[in-house]
Amino acid sequence: MNVVSVLFVCLGNICRSPTAHGVFQGMVDSNGLGNAIRVDSAGTGDWHIGHSPDQRTAEVAAAKGYDLSSLRARLVTSEDFDSFDYIIAMDSANLSDLKTMQPADYTGHLGLFLDFSVQDSHTQVPDPYYGGEDGFELVFNLVEEASQGLLQHIQANHQLGDRHF
Ligand code: 4NP
Repeated sequence: MNVVSVLFVCLGNICRSPTAHGVFQGMVDSNGLGNAIRVDSAGTGDWHIGHSPDQRTAEVAAAKGYDLSSLRARLVTSEDFDSFDYIIAMDSANLSDLKTMQPADYTGHLGLFLDFSVQDSHTQVPDPYYGGEDGFELVFNLVEEASQGLLQHIQANHQLGDRHF
């Protein structure tokens, strides 16, 4: 059966991509698609490998009902291009790093997360790490809205079935 796999990628894998991981996973589960869509996240930088999401990220997500506590940061690898149908970058720097890793025969979708968003104020999810609380709220709101668009896109473009892994 067809299983669709989605990897969210940012720089540190402790703020933006874990937010996307947790929010999108929550939407997948609440739509009864937990056996049909596999979700993961990773970072292009190695500073935070093995770390939990940033406390500010975790607090904003928890306030909105999403538990990120089981997530741990990892580095994106070239093998991820063998495993994921969608590799979704938070900003254009992440995307250009991923393009340098992309095998010539990759047939999946590599692109920006906010391409799945209908809002038009932002084209990228801004890095909140060195900023204030507002940045984390903005990340959450952009991620939540784009997650709905991505889920609709996947539902419209794939015959979803059970995963076997
Ligand atoms: P993220 O945010 O890419 O959304 O996880 C960052 C986290 C850590 C750093 C930069 C961005 N850092 O420089 O350590």
